[in-house]
Amino acid sequence: MSESVISETVAAGVVQITMNRPDRKNALDRTSYAGLIAAIAAAEADASIRAILLTGAGGCFTSGNDIKDFAAAAATGQGLTIAIDFLNAISTAKKPIVAAVEGFAVGIGTTMLLHCDLAFAGRTATFRLPFVTLGLSPEGGSSYLLPLVAGSKKAAELLMLGEPFGAEAAEDAGLVNAVIEEGTALEAGLAKAKTLAALPPESVALTKMLLKRGSAQAVAETIGTEAHHFGERLRSAEAMAAFAAFLKK
Ligand code: COA
Repeated sequence: MSESVISETVAAGVVQITMNRPDRKNALDRTSYAGLIAAIAAAEADASIRAILLTGAGGCFTSGNDIKDFAAAAATGQGLTIAIDFLNAISTAKKPIVAAVEGFAVGIGTTMLLHCDLAFAGRTATFRLPFVTLGLSPEGGSSYLLPLVAGSKKAAELLMLGEPFGAEAAEDAGLVNAVIEEGTALEAGLAKAKTLAALPPESVALTKMLLKRGSAQAVAETIGTEAHHFGERLRSAEAMAAFAAFLKK
């Protein structure tokens, strides 16, 4: 498993998956996505694991997709299929996933929360869906799921304006269960992951399946449709200018 993602059993039945590029604010490059996919697959395959705790190192969840990789994908004309593979993996995982968010949760760092079953955020956490500001378009099923959990006006505000928003706003938008003291999200997430791990696993898995059943097909279709547009937008002049501006800083 790559070092940019660490997977470790932290309590009976609980695996913690940590996005671990703190010097890049845990930006997700191809290696990180491969690590996340492998870690989720390993947790799903291990009968002793009953809950997944997802977090980021260094007081930051993740700054989203590595913008260098965006620029490289645009320059080479290659897509970022590995990011889509990760979204498909997290959105179809059968075991419960609990997210612990501190610091920044940007782009896919926010949209992946829509696929977690529970999420806790430290009070100072900052969220952002800057797809339009980067000349891109929504991903991760967010164009379908965000209106569902946040309402259509709120979803338009967050996805079209792309402005940063705080933990309280994230709770209002249905992205997190609770806002807690800064620095305690991991502790809170671990407590709930332990609770989940101690419950009857077949019943937990069945409940998760039933909760997702109604939207599963639409989510899968939306992830695919969004990926098509996102791939085109990556190569757009608007996006390339935005990547160049970020990388010049
Ligand atoms: N891709 C590549 N590098 C990134 C990154 C990303 N998504 N996010 C942060 N980094 C790099 C920064 O360029 C910086 O590199 P440097 O030390 O060589 O200058 C380093 O990580 C630390 O980030 P910095 O911007 O100095 O931290 P900050 O606390 O001032 O700001 C963010 C944090 C997350 C607000 C800011 O880094 C940011 O906006 N990142 C881009 C987020 C983004 O647009 N993601 C794509 C979403 S679709």
